[in-house]
Amino acid sequence: MPDRPAAAPFSAVLAARLARREFLKGGLAVAVAAAFPLAGCTTAPEARPVAIGFTGIPPSPDDAIRIAPEYEATVLYRWGDPVGIPGNMPAFRMDASNTAAAQEAQAGMHHDGMSFYPLPLASGASAHGLLAMNHEYLDDGLLHPDGRRTWSAEKVRKAQASVGVSVIEVRLAGSGWEIVRPSRYARRITAYTPCAIAGPAAGADAMKTAFDPAGREVLGTYNGCANGYTPWGTYLTCEENWNFFFVTAGAISPEQRRYGIGKGRGYGWEPYDERFDAAKHPHESNRFGWIVEIDPYDPQSKPVKRTTLDRTKHEGAHPSVGPDRRIAFYMGDDEGFEYIYKFVTARAWDPANRAANRDLLDDGVLYAARFNADGTGDWLALEHGKDGLTAANGFASQADVLVKTRQSADRVGATPMDRPEWGAVHPTTREVYMTLSNNSARGRDKQPGPDAANPRANNVFGHIIRWREDGDDVAATRFRWDIFALGGVPGNADPAKRGRFKGDAFGCPDGLWFDRRGVLWVQTDISPTALLRGDFAPLGNNQVLAADPATGELRRFLVGPKGCEITGFTTTPDNRTAFVNIQHPGENPGEINDPDFPSANSNWPDFAPNGRPRSATVVIRRKDGGEIGT
Ligand code: FEO
Ligand code: CA
Ligand code: CA
Repeated sequence: MPDRPAAAPFSAVLAARLARREFLKGGLAVAVAAAFPLAGCTTAPEARPVAIGFTGIPPSPDDAIRIAPEYEATVLYRWGDPVGIPGNMPAFRMDASNTAAAQEAQAGMHHDGMSFYPLPLASGASAHGLLAMNHEYLDDGLLHPDGRRTWSAEKVRKAQASVGVSVIEVRLAGSGWEIVRPSRYARRITAYTPCAIAGPAAGADAMKTAFDPAGREVLGTYNGCANGYTPWGTYLTCEENWNFFFVTAGAISPEQRRYGIGKGRGYGWEPYDERFDAAKHPHESNRFGWIVEIDPYDPQSKPVKRTTLDRTKHEGAHPSVGPDRRIAFYMGDDEGFEYIYKFVTARAWDPANRAANRDLLDDGVLYAARFNADGTGDWLALEHGKDGLTAANGFASQADVLVKTRQSADRVGATPMDRPEWGAVHPTTREVYMTLSNNSARGRDKQPGPDAANPRANNVFGHIIRWREDGDDVAATRFRWDIFALGGVPGNADPAKRGRFKGDAFGCPDGLWFDRRGVLWVQTDISPTALLRGDFAPLGNNQVLAADPATGELRRFLVGPKGCEITGFTTTPDNRTAFVNIQHPGENPGEINDPDFPSANSNWPDFAPNGRPRSATVVIRRKDGGEIGT
């Protein structure tokens, strides 16, 4: 453990600090504040000094949330809690005996990325709003009373209802935050909710299936990991490890192999939903891996898979609005040696006319990132007909370039990274930070070795990289980058595992979010197979740290219960409430939980007799009602 300064405020003005930074010489336009006039935007920036002053906390191995002493954390929305759909609010049964139909009206499992949407839209309200969140994946050992010992269409349906997205209405009442039930906004989106397909791949041959010969509608979105949002108040769920749900007994095409189809563990969906048999329906998997836009303000709206953006195994899609109101979305493809992407809209966002932005994400240019050793970088356009993305090389159309995004990025020479996870854009400087969670395969036999942007072989602790676009132009094709921090544990016998950071130690950074004042909130995801073991033992359970982007100091703010990862940190516009998701408390290392002993690894948050762990949204408030992190 490094020494931790006692509650010292981060007191300098961000802009002044950033101006001191060497690699940013010459460019400090803090001009973007005017580009976020829509108060409903979840990151309307405030160009004012950052002053953080909470008391950092030590690591914890406990089955409990630990938080800085000036704060309190309360559980708001657990797996199985009713969403609040009028006339359909089934209570959770602690023995997991709720039906598939009940699960469809309850919180899903494995809460992940999350955004707050003020009510009414664009009001900037901080005491009333909507939370949209992902339910990334599921644990059959906890979901069903007997786990996978028996199997049925009902169980598959319940599993499919346990993933996707929740939209809940929340408000700050006298005694704290509560879910409004019933609510006309309450909604669950599942692995069988009809979604439209838009953009270049809509109607393309690769998207056509026996069930959807037109290639324009797909059932469901799932494995949404990190998230994104738009300044016009829509939510972006970003499909990550969707491949693991497909199985095949047939030959695996190069395209399927590139995305890991057929080597997954499988979730047993295919006997009762044959879409997931990739031998029978080889195109169905092409319809997953996209960014999906959802309007949380309209529960009748159909989610739309926006195929102009990349098809990968996403973390999120993190927006940056340029002075001309074109928007860049930064995206990481979370697998070892995969790439970082940027999508830039062709048109400007219209803050005065929400309807005009409805299809803004259908037109633009997708790029993959190349990090050069000299600290510069290039955005390499993935455009059909250019840079080798031609029919002669197997790319027949722009739809083909997008469906095969990974192969397209291979072709143009993007830089393989150490598991790109969340990105975050500084609210005033537009500098972009991205977590690179870990990559133990870096430097192994026949694998890429270290490079400037991924400098450690056997990178078990991960790092955080950052970059700034040339001219602070979100559409620039060049950027400059450096490494913000390398995770690690001081005192580790291996100097490479000691990391490079100021303040509190961290490992496996995953969630990342800038609040409106420029405080960077880092959330970790050390795998349950590594938690509390070996090199990772000194770090305790997964956690939230606040970082000062100017000084690089990290300070531990919250530690989660056993076996969880922490994700989805976001705050209300007034910075006085934070919401964070505790995902998979008690995850069984390497396998599903034992249904006969569901609380064997954690019994958080209920600690009920005969209980089971439940992913949950947690509300954080400062005891004196002040701003979070200050
Ligand atoms: Fe779902 Fe990359 O974490
Ligand atoms: Ca993640
Ligand atoms: Ca993760």
